[in-house]
Amino acid sequence: MATKVVDKTARLTIGRKSVDLPLVCGTEGEQAIDIGKLRASTGLVTIDPSLGNTASCFSKITYIDGEKGILRYRGIPIEKLVAKARFIDVAYLLIHGELPTYDERRNFSQLLNFNSLMHEDMRHFFDLFPRNAHPMNILSTMINAMASFYPNVDLVSVVEDIDSAATRIISCIRTMVAFVYKKSIGEPLVYPRQDLSYCANFLNMMFNSPVRPYEICPETVRLLNILFILHADHEQNCSTTAVRVIGSAQVNLYSTISAGISALSGPLHGGANQAVIEMLRAIHEDGDIEKFVRMAKSKDNNFRLMGFGHRAYKTYDPRAVIIRRECEKYLAFRKIDDPLLDVAKRLEEIALGDSYFIERHLYPNVDFYSGILYRAMGIPENMFTAMFALARLPGWIAHWKEMIGRDTKIVRPRQVYVGKPENKSEIKLPKAIFTI
Ligand code: SDX
Repeated sequence: MATKVVDKTARLTIGRKSVDLPLVCGTEGEQAIDIGKLRASTGLVTIDPSLGNTASCFSKITYIDGEKGILRYRGIPIEKLVAKARFIDVAYLLIHGELPTYDERRNFSQLLNFNSLMHEDMRHFFDLFPRNAHPMNILSTMINAMASFYPNVDLVSVVEDIDSAATRIISCIRTMVAFVYKKSIGEPLVYPRQDLSYCANFLNMMFNSPVRPYEICPETVRLLNILFILHADHEQNCSTTAVRVIGSAQVNLYSTISAGISALSGPLHGGANQAVIEMLRAIHEDGDIEKFVRMAKSKDNNFRLMGFGHRAYKTYDPRAVIIRRECEKYLAFRKIDDPLLDVAKRLEEIALGDSYFIERHLYPNVDFYSGILYRAMGIPENMFTAMFALARLPGWIAHWKEMIGRDTKIVRPRQVYVGKPENKSEIKLPKAIFTI
C-alpha cells in the first residue's frame, strides 16, 4: 500500500525519553501518526476504545470529509454517481476500483443474473424460523449458511475470481430479502427474472403475486438505485470494521459478511432507519414534539433522536441531503401525504435551531429520511435495515478484498488491564456436588 511518509515526524516524549514516530499523509492531506513500532520502542500502547481517534487501515475505496460533508467512492462524488450510475455500476466501481466498461458491465450483469437463484435446499430454512423472526437475523443466518452450500470458496480463488463470489452474494441476498418478506406475509415466493435489472427484479420479487400482477414503476426503480448507491459504502463504519476484523482471521467471505450484517442490525448503526420511523410515529401520535426534543437533550434517560448525529459527519450527511430531496419528489409523484415526513421536517427544523444539537454538531444522517421513502415504496418497516444490508454488500466485499492479502495480519489489539492484582492466597472452592 503506497503511502507518503512526510518529512515530519511526531516526537513523543515520556519523561527523559523521546521517540520519533513517522507521520503518514493521505491523498487529501489528512495526517496520521504511525505507531506501528511504538510498543517495541517504548513498551507503551495507545488506548482509544471506540477507535474514534484511530485509523485502522490504509484504504483506497471511500473518502469522507466529515466537516465538509463530502463522500466519494473511488474518488467520484456520490452526487455524480447518483445522477448517472446504476447500483450495479457502483458495486463494480467499489469492488474493482473503476466504473465498468460496456463489456465489464454486461459480464457483471450476466453473473448477477446467473447467481440470482438461491440454492433450492436453502428454501427450507425459511420454514424453520419463527414467523416474527427479524429479517436481519434471518439474513445473517442465510448468508453464513452459503459457506456450507458453496464450500469451494477459498481465499485465493475468491480474490482471483471475486466476481463470481461477489455476484453470488450480491444477487442472492436480493432474492433472500424478497423471500423473507414473502414468507412473512404467507405469499408464494416470486423468483428472479433474467429480463429485469437488479432493482426492478428486486421490486418484482417483493410485490408481484400470482393474483395481483405488479406493474414495475420506472420512477421507483430509479429511486431504489439511488438509495442503494447512497448506502453502498461508508469507509470504516462499525459493520465494515467488523468485516475487516473477522476477515483478518481468514474466515470465508460468506461468514465474514454474515458478521457485517449482524453489526449493521444495531439501532446505533443500520438499525436506526427502522428506529427513526418508530420515533416519528410516536411523536406524531403524542403530538408534543418539543417533549421528545427535551428528552433527547436530557441526561436522565437514554432517548436519542434516531437518525441524528454521526461519528464522522459534523455537518449535514450528504446522503441525507439527497434522500430528503428525493423524499419530497417521490411522495409528490406518488401523491402520498405522509404525516411522518412533516414530523421529520419539523423535528429537523427545531433541532437545527437548538444550541444543544448545534454545539454537538448533530445533523440528520443517512437514516433520518430513508425510512419514509421505503414506506412510500411499500417496504415494511422491519425490512428497512435489510435494505441497508443489501445495499452495503458491495462496500463490505470491497473492503474484504482490500484487506485480504499475503501480508494481512490477524487483527489482535492490546488492552490496559485494570482488574485485580495477582491473588497470592490459596483458592477456596465449595465441596463438589457430584463425586465425578
Ligand atoms: C449509521 O459510521 C458510519 O458511517 C455509520 C453509517 C454508515 O453508513 O455505515 O453512516 C450508518 O450508522 C448512521 C448513524 C445511525 N445511528 C443513529 O442515528 C442513532 C442516533 N445517533 C447516535 O446514537 C449517535 O449520534 C451516533 C451513534 C450515530 C454517533 O455517536 P458518537 O459519535 O459516539 O457520539 P456520542 O454518543 O459520543 O455523542 C456525543 C454527544 C453526547 O452528548 P454529551 O455527552 O456530549 O452531552 O452528542 C449527544 C450525546 O449524548 N448525541 C445525541 C445524539 N447523538 C449524539 N443526543 C441526542 N440525540 C442524538 N441522536
